[in-house]
Amino acid sequence: MQKIIGPLALPQNERGEAFAASNIALCKYWGKRDNELNLPQNSSLSLSLGHLGTHTIIQANAAKDEIYLNKENLGPSARFSSRLIAFLDLFRPMPDYFFRIETHNNFPTAAGLASSASGYAAMAKALNAFFGWRLDDINLSILARLGSGSAARSVYTGFVEWHRGEAEDGMDSYAEQLPASWPELRLAVLTVSGAAKSIDSRGGMRRTVETSTLYKAWPEKATRDIEAIRQAIREHDFERLGSTAESNALAMHATMLDSQPAILYWLPETVSVFHKIWRLRQEGVPLYFTIDAGPNVKILLEEKNEGIVRSEFCEAEIVNPFIFNRVNHFPESASGERRTAR
Ligand code: PMV
Repeated sequence: MQKIIGPLALPQNERGEAFAASNIALCKYWGKRDNELNLPQNSSLSLSLGHLGTHTIIQANAAKDEIYLNKENLGPSARFSSRLIAFLDLFRPMPDYFFRIETHNNFPTAAGLASSASGYAAMAKALNAFFGWRLDDINLSILARLGSGSAARSVYTGFVEWHRGEAEDGMDSYAEQLPASWPELRLAVLTVSGAAKSIDSRGGMRRTVETSTLYKAWPEKATRDIEAIRQAIREHDFERLGSTAESNALAMHATMLDSQPAILYWLPETVSVFHKIWRLRQEGVPLYFTIDAGPNVKILLEEKNEGIVRSEFCEAEIVNPFIFNRVNHFPESASGERRTAR
């Protein structure tokens, strides 16, 4: 960390503010090779959720850390706060220096989107603006990764690849945006349940790595899938993109099922959605799904099939992953961060 921000110092500004979009992995990050630094066993590739994400403001505070999530003042013992406080500990210029954090997700928390991804990416960017570090995106991605692995990818928009890296200190484990756009691509977020999960992704990954025999095959599968997805993006081959993403998500869940005790995030409604998508596909509608460590399903579709998805899945929220330039609920200009030219 010191390699990135140098010695800890007081902030240069009165406040820092930033937005980061949420992301959905098409080739999943599942399993760490270092639990402290959130270093992954495999590279992963995601699609950002356009205007859906987290906006965060950070300021200095007297006496104690104060954390507001969607305007609610959370106590220090809330799970959200204790995890965030541990992250903030990395940056305190002195032990009795405290922060006031206001963080807001512009998607329903129950929507099953990875709020930790956009949350820690927005936090890293806001800290950068607050302290005046002037970090580029690669270093921001490394800092965000320390809060939550998938946050390494949420520093960017569009298609993003998080490189596994080899170094023990994680300095080569960061994400980069792929120079690709796919304006006709859409993602539909289908909330099956807003209930809290029985095991979070951190715990789920750890158990899978430690106990699943099938997991041994996962890094090789992920390496093959990420290459196929890269190629599908280059060629705008929707069928290849969708079928690889769906297979990758199912393989990740297979390793969870093989864990001891087994991990099953799906609900009966989740499986019904799978069957419905498979039926529609058989009938000629090219829809594919992906699913993270939870019961909610994300459907990959092309713009021309938005109408069918709206009528078949009326509760689905359809997002355009490439619309961030036109619709941004929280303009990034206020954050003052410097972006790497690419
Ligand atoms: O960043 P974490 O620790 O919340 O892990 C995310 C894991 C998955 O969402 C299941 C996969 C991914 O690549 O985002």
